[in-house]
Order: sequence, then C-alpha cells, then structure tokens
Amino acid sequence: MRILVLGGGGREHAIVRALLASHHHPEVFCAPGNGGTAQIATNVDIPEGDPAYVTSWVARNGIDFVVIGPEAPLVVGTANMLAVEGVPVFGPKAAGAEIEGSKTFAKDLMTRHGIPTGAYKAVDSASDAMAYLARVGAPVVVKADGLAGGKGVTVADTVEQATYAVNNALEGAFGMAGEVVVIEEYLEGPECSLLAFTDGQTVLPMLPAQDHKRAYDNDEGPNTGGMGVYSPVPAVDENTLAEMVSILENTVAAMHAEGIEYRGVLYGGFILTTDGPKVLEYNARFGDPEAQVLIPLLKTDLLDVMLATANGTLADISLEWRDEVAVSVVLASGGYPTSYDTGTSITGIEDAEAMEGVTVYHAGTAFDGNGQLLTAGGRVLNVTGVAPTFAEARERVYRAIERISFSNMHYRTDIGLRAIDRAADG
Ligand code: GLY
Repeated sequence: MRILVLGGGGREHAIVRALLASHHHPEVFCAPGNGGTAQIATNVDIPEGDPAYVTSWVARNGIDFVVIGPEAPLVVGTANMLAVEGVPVFGPKAAGAEIEGSKTFAKDLMTRHGIPTGAYKAVDSASDAMAYLARVGAPVVVKADGLAGGKGVTVADTVEQATYAVNNALEGAFGMAGEVVVIEEYLEGPECSLLAFTDGQTVLPMLPAQDHKRAYDNDEGPNTGGMGVYSPVPAVDENTLAEMVSILENTVAAMHAEGIEYRGVLYGGFILTTDGPKVLEYNARFGDPEAQVLIPLLKTDLLDVMLATANGTLADISLEWRDEVAVSVVLASGGYPTSYDTGTSITGIEDAEAMEGVTVYHAGTAFDGNGQLLTAGGRVLNVTGVAPTFAEARERVYRAIERISFSNMHYRTDIGLRAIDRAADG
C-alpha cells in the first residue's frame, strides 16, 4: 500500500511513524514533511493546499490512501477532489471541515441541535457589533470567523477592547478570515480536548488530552499553537468524560442529519464549566501536539483505524489504549510565536531517544545539503515520554530534553505538573 500524508508538523511525524509500524507495511510519502519524516519516509515537494495538484500527483504516483493532517487542505476540499477520483481519504470533505473553517457554521450547527456552547453573535459590520456589545457587555471573546492560523482570537475584558478587536478583524487584519466576526460569551473553567475517530455514524473517542497554549510557564505569555500536552487528564472524571463523548456523538449525528458524512478526526475543544462541559470550538483534524501523546498511547494499529474511518466500517474497530500516561513537551525556537531564527544545528536527538519510553517527534526541522539537521520553524521538536505515572513520564521527558541542544532553545518546564497534583488528589 502506498500512502500520502499531507502536512509537515510533529503531528504528521507521529502519524507517519505509526503508519510505518502497521502490519500493512505501507510505503509512505509526506508532503511537505520535515527532517524527521525525511529519515523514515519520502518527502515530496507538492503544495499541500492545492487540491488539483495533490489529486493529479496521487494519480500519477499510484497512491492508494491519503491522510490529511492540517486543516487548510481539508477546508479547500482536497478530500472531495480525491473522492471523485476514487481515492480513499482520512479527513472530512469541505462541508464537514467547515466545522473548523467557519466559526459561524459551527456555532449555528450547535445551536440548531442543542449542543452546549456559549452564547454568540456573528456580525459583519461595526454597527451590528456595537449594538450587540452594548447589550451583552464584557468580558467577551472576539473571533475571526475563518482560519486565521490561531491568531484571530481576542479575549476582551472591556467593551472598548472588544470594539477594537472587531474593527481590527473587519478592517482586514486576518484577511478574508475576518470578514465575519463572532462575538462569544466568555466561559470560565479549565479547558480540555477530546478527539474522536468517526466515519459519520460510529464515534470512537480517544483519551482526553490537556494542551498548554501559552508560551511560558504558569500559562503566561502569548498564545501559541501548543507548547506541551499530557494525556489522559486526571481532572476529568467519568461523568464529565461521558458528557463530552455524548456531545461529540450528538455533533456527528447533527451533521449526518444535515447530509454531512464526516469521516476523520473530530476534535472537541471543551471548557469544563460549573454547568458541565461546553464546546469552545471544533477542529476537523488531529491536534498538534495532542497527536504526539494520543498516537503513542494507542495500541490498535493506526492504519486499520484510519482505513475503517475512511471506508465507513469503524463499527468493526475497537480502540485499545496502553495502560500508561504520556507527556509531550515542545522545544521551540526562542522568540516563538513572534520572531525567531531558523537554520541553527540540532544535536542530541539520538541520545534522547535511547532513553526508555522516549520518542522525539520533529516539527520545524530540515536537513541541509551536508546532512546536518537544522531548525526550520517555531516549534522545532516534541519530546514525548510514556510511563506508568505522570511523575515518571515527566522525569523521562525532561531528562531527555537535557540531551538535546540548539541555539536559543525554549520550552516550558511545567508540562504535566497539574496532572501529578490531580492524580495525587485522588
Ligand atoms: N493544539 C491545538 C490545535 O491543534 O489546534
């Protein structure tokens, strides 16, 4: 079997490694890939956001199965075009990917089907925004409707801040993504992610995961794509987890009722309020770095799960998980998420991976012409530790990190601490 994986982050390195470990023994291509995927698969230089190009490359190269990692190729309909050519795809078609590509679509769908989420109003003019803000006051969350690379969200403590954020988006700060703006109720509580595989009918939840979006320890500093993650989440009790699963099932059923057969990963970003879990947002794909803890904990063959998801036979699969926990820490280039240098050499990955239970997933890395591994992005590596307890997983990760070095390396030192505290509480 020949598989093409679209994407080039830590998520895609984790996917490619798991696919290569499958009993199907596939040959794997990755576009654009990174330094890590180059070592184990074949990186190909095709524009991942151009569905026509991807589809013709797939036909010319005899690809049997396509796995779409990031949101952008999903939203532009890569899965639709591949389906027309009869190529099975892991990842929803454009209509389903709207759940991430348009916040208004997601909120309207949830409202139509009674799925718990914060109150909201979508606006496309400053006057409508002012009228709504005068009614609801602050705090509120202002979001660009479309994909803004994680940058289109402002938590506004005052109406003035909210007004500024709305105008900024409407005036083009996020391009077309901000032509419509969603003003949302500010919800309080811890955040938690729950992802599920679904073929549009069967929903197989994964383990809950706790991402850390802020750049610095103690959740300080600017928002990033994610600086570290652990799974499962001791703070999520059985009842809360059951409610989150039921919300994901109801969302898939809601899409099915509206004619959308959603096949891929549905990622629920939840906030655990005193009134129970509510949906903050949906993503149409694996999280990054959530994949870097969920995939190593999954015992079931990932390719079997992905094929069943794409073919609509997920009812035949049951997911098995390791009886262990995982912690993953992102090693970033100093200055990320704003400005940072690239092109500095990375050492110590092999030494780190020689440690028991440690895997290093590449994100922003590339080899130069002399075979030297260099930094090539903001998030550079993800160091994942799997162990029986969070204390041991953390110990493995942070001891492994001591062996890795690149100029100006930055990482959070508190990933997994909260899980240890909660696990000790009971
Ligand atoms: N870790 C957050 C995301 O993948 O969107």
